[in-house]
Amino acid sequence: MSQAALGMSPPEAGGEPLLALRGVGIGLKRRRRSSEIVRGVDLEVFPGEKLGIVGESGSGKTLTVLSVLRLLPDPPVRLLRGQITFAGRDLGAMDDKALARVRGAEISMVYQDPMTSLNPLLRVRTQIVETLRAHGVPREAARARCREVLAQVGLQGPERVERAFPHELSGGMLQRVMIAMALAVSPRLLIADEPTTALDVTIQQQILELVEDIQSRTGMAVVWVTHDLGVVARIVDQVVVMYAGRVVEKGPTRPLFARPNHPYTQALLGSLPHRGTRHRQPLTQIGGSPPDPAHLGRGCPFRSRCPYAFDRCAEEEPPLIDRGPGAAACWKAPSEWEK
Ligand SMILES: Nc1ncnc2c1ncn2[C@@H]1O[C@H](COP(=O)(O)OP(=O)(O)OP(=O)(O)O)[C@@H](O)[C@H]1O
Ligand code: SF4
Ligand SMILES: [Mg+2]
Repeated sequence: MSQAALGMSPPEAGGEPLLALRGVGIGLKRRRRSSEIVRGVDLEVFPGEKLGIVGESGSGKTLTVLSVLRLLPDPPVRLLRGQITFAGRDLGAMDDKALARVRGAEISMVYQDPMTSLNPLLRVRTQIVETLRAHGVPREAARARCREVLAQVGLQGPERVERAFPHELSGGMLQRVMIAMALAVSPRLLIADEPTTALDVTIQQQILELVEDIQSRTGMAVVWVTHDLGVVARIVDQVVVMYAGRVVEKGPTRPLFARPNHPYTQALLGSLPHRGTRHRQPLTQIGGSPPDPAHLGRGCPFRSRCPYAFDRCAEEEPPLIDRGPGAAACWKAPSEWEK
């Protein structure tokens, strides 16, 4: 169902974003040294929209989404600057009680590590029912909703799954249980941080399609965090590419794939499998490795791996430059890359 059919404003119509991050900076304190490991992150998610956040391991994807609900592992990591608003409300200015309500009822999160949100000692049903009870749902209604969401996420034999303990389930099943738990409260925004190891690409794709199916029926917005551009390609509306704690490119999915505006995005696309190739190439095919975001010097953080780097790249870090319909943090427009 389209956004218009759901009665929502598409971004180009100038509607208000559901979630907006403005100038978010996240710091890491090691011994006496502090460094900003995520810097100047701006992003918006509109009602009913699907946004993909993509980048190599360590690029700051998880920290960025954890900052939304004040879930950063503080110490040593904490929000240094920036504003985060949800449905027009400043999350940073909310007291803990109000934020807990948003966290439980309006924004649901699926964590990278299933055991962050699942208690190994409790049966699946107990965990889902207790989550709903905490939001004032009566016990019988909570039990019915539990069965309903487990069936909704495509788990075979929901009666058996609800009686299981987490260790009795496979990685793919656990991921579905976590999504069921997150959906039980009918959130307006689902943030899913993809597990990097537990699931293979096929299962990730199935889960993403499942979320898309639910999303199209409920109109919730989705933020999907992944290191794999290929996984989100067909599904999300907008893509944010992160590198070394910065947003280096963002824009609508189709033009971004057809005509990337940042050499890093171009390299990510180049590492995707071609038609007929069964195996995905690791991102290390780009050559070199990403810098530690805690120890960046001057200049563009991508310059050591960039085939188009020139003098200015070593001196000045490029801001996000409008390359309509998207934006990229590169001094050169794609038409200048070969020069
Ligand atoms: N608790 C922590 N203590 C110290 N450093 C941390 C901590 N959490 C994250 N970092 C550092 O912050 C940077 C960004 O981490 P983050 O987990 O956000 O990356 P990511 O993009 O989610 O990577 P992945 O794809 O591996 O999940 C990394 O350099 C990481 O080492
Ligand atoms: S600013 Fe320079 S080094 Fe950075 S991506 Fe663009 S051309 Fe490459
Ligand atoms: Mg992560």
